[in-house]
Amino acid sequence: MAPSDISKEIKRLVDVIRYHNECYFQKGISEISDYAYDQLLERLTRLEEAHPHLKLPDSPTEVIGQQPSKGFEVVYHQTPMLSLAKTYSEVEVIQFVERAKKMFPAATIDFVCEPKIDGVALSILYEKGRLIRVVTRGDGEKGDDITRHVAQCLPLPQKIQAAPCDAFEVRGEAFMSKTVFKALNSARKAKGEPLWANPRNITAGTLKALDVDAVKDRQLAFYGYGFYGPSYICPTQQAALALLVALGFSVPPTYRVCHNGMEIMAYVAYCAEYKKDLPVEVDGVVIKVNKLDQQDRMGTTAKSPRWAIAYKYQPERASSILEGVTFQLGRTGIVTPVAHFSPLPLAGTMVRRASLYNADALARLDLCLGDTIFIEKGGEIIPKVVGVDSALRHTDSQPIRFICSCPACGTLLHRAAGVVAYYCPNKQRCLPQLKGALLHFSHRKAMDIDTLGPKTVDVLLEAKLVQTAADLYALRYDAVNDLEGFQALSTQKLLANIQASKTRPFDRVLFALGIQHVGETVARKLALYFRSMERLQAATQAELLQLPDIGERIAQSILDYLQDPYQQTILNALQSAGVQFALPEPVDSLLPFSSKNFVISGTFQKFTRAECTKLIEEAGGRVLSAISTKVDYFVAGTKVGPSKLTKAMQCGIPILEEDEFIKMMA
Ligand code: IVH
Repeated sequence: MAPSDISKEIKRLVDVIRYHNECYFQKGISEISDYAYDQLLERLTRLEEAHPHLKLPDSPTEVIGQQPSKGFEVVYHQTPMLSLAKTYSEVEVIQFVERAKKMFPAATIDFVCEPKIDGVALSILYEKGRLIRVVTRGDGEKGDDITRHVAQCLPLPQKIQAAPCDAFEVRGEAFMSKTVFKALNSARKAKGEPLWANPRNITAGTLKALDVDAVKDRQLAFYGYGFYGPSYICPTQQAALALLVALGFSVPPTYRVCHNGMEIMAYVAYCAEYKKDLPVEVDGVVIKVNKLDQQDRMGTTAKSPRWAIAYKYQPERASSILEGVTFQLGRTGIVTPVAHFSPLPLAGTMVRRASLYNADALARLDLCLGDTIFIEKGGEIIPKVVGVDSALRHTDSQPIRFICSCPACGTLLHRAAGVVAYYCPNKQRCLPQLKGALLHFSHRKAMDIDTLGPKTVDVLLEAKLVQTAADLYALRYDAVNDLEGFQALSTQKLLANIQASKTRPFDRVLFALGIQHVGETVARKLALYFRSMERLQAATQAELLQLPDIGERIAQSILDYLQDPYQQTILNALQSAGVQFALPEPVDSLLPFSSKNFVISGTFQKFTRAECTKLIEEAGGRVLSAISTKVDYFVAGTKVGPSKLTKAMQCGIPILEEDEFIKMMA
């Protein structure tokens, strides 16, 4: 980079970090993840170290927090409230331990590991056993006096009978429990008010609200982790935690004294697992040298103590720079935009790509190349892009637009009315679609043709020996054997596997067809209910909607598939080839509830609804979702839907309560 560019970059980073500092420290809002913030700060630190002459006065790398807020009395801390050195790396934790050990070669050294509470740091001053002042961290040197606020929303020991000395200070973290946070947000949602992003934001917002009365109902809590008084009172951090409990404070619900790096990392792993059960959000583990005299000798830097380090868990949400967007074509022809970004550690794995879902989602995000994007890994395995930081956008960035034609075959993309997805309609010729459909057909859970993998499919497609699944059954030995890479044995195996697939039951055939939205479960339900392709082809939308798990979207997709002349040709060819197009009747008709229709409603004591469905299906019955004259039994638990009950009574359907149902099944 040219010096003028470096200077510009430093200025940009300083501005961005200052902006986020103001959000965080003044307004209690965090617009970016801690990880993203730490990355910005680290980049600035590196640039400043490499080019010290370009470092700006009052750089955020020197400042701990932020100036105290307006509207509060400013109070100077007796001892600066420092920050903690942070790391996401286990190696750096071990290096910290080794450094500390080296400093005291002749003495034993141990460490107290505590959860890092994601809240707001407070200092609480006591004199003659009485709470006299509560102050925020502010810029580390001076903070806001929030004693009045705390009296409204944060219960703290006001008077301590057995005070260990005349004056002392307790430091710790104020927070809102996950339960209170959820309840408050539900209430806000019900009133249509904007939701709080996380418990930390609301804690900071509550403690700094200018209208104290407005925050009375927000119950906050506090964990103490520091005692500041004469050093003879607490010679160790462990003793400080015990003393805080004796004084009436809550301390972090788990902490452990560790003697080496291995024990520390074991605690880090334990806490990663256990933190979901804690009442408070925990974003890491703080590792502190236990003995106070050793802490004193290790000292501090301008920003943080040398005797402690915070190991932070990799976030489930983080940010990265968007390097490009590609458009992926699925086996059903649907085109999905995929974001590519600089690799990022997210909840334990390195992530480079995330789904952008569809054209609408892409438009909503309004992305440009080089944007800082937020990526989340929630319950789903595939990470997703959930936002963009437009404040960080360069003015000349190039916007990203959805494509108009298929990335594989160039056909103009279509979009069905009321559907968000664009798809390539060229399903008969578009190679990735043909390949995807064949691979799905041969999948282990579908027709299970295990010798028909991606390479073989490519070869067969290229040789134009197959185009659809039906063509597989017309393959001749000579034609396959002549293909490159095939020999007698592999040809025989492939053809034998294809032949064997004709015995796969009808439900697997239905799944193998690759009808959009028809997964294994829906295919099984369809097969059990309709029992043959012929009956399924005659089904109306209303009839499909009767089945549990089938809503309008799935029903429409099934109807579209079955009415498509191209698919009909494939279906006819599959049937002629001898693929199973019906469930065998004889076995089923012996079952006690063969062809009987049930509707289940309410909750049961002895089984779940899923178990109830399984019992019925195993006995040959079918479970429907709606009451109609076709229903033979209504199984009613407690809290049964009143409209269903009334309708069942009107239709004269026998109503089985839990015990009766069990007897009948027995
Ligand atoms: S000890 C010198 N222990 O982390 C600072 N801090 O980035 C000593 N925090 O401002 C702090 N849990 O608000 C300590 N168990 C814990 C903590 C903890 C959360 C916060 C604290 C501090 C920030 C440092």
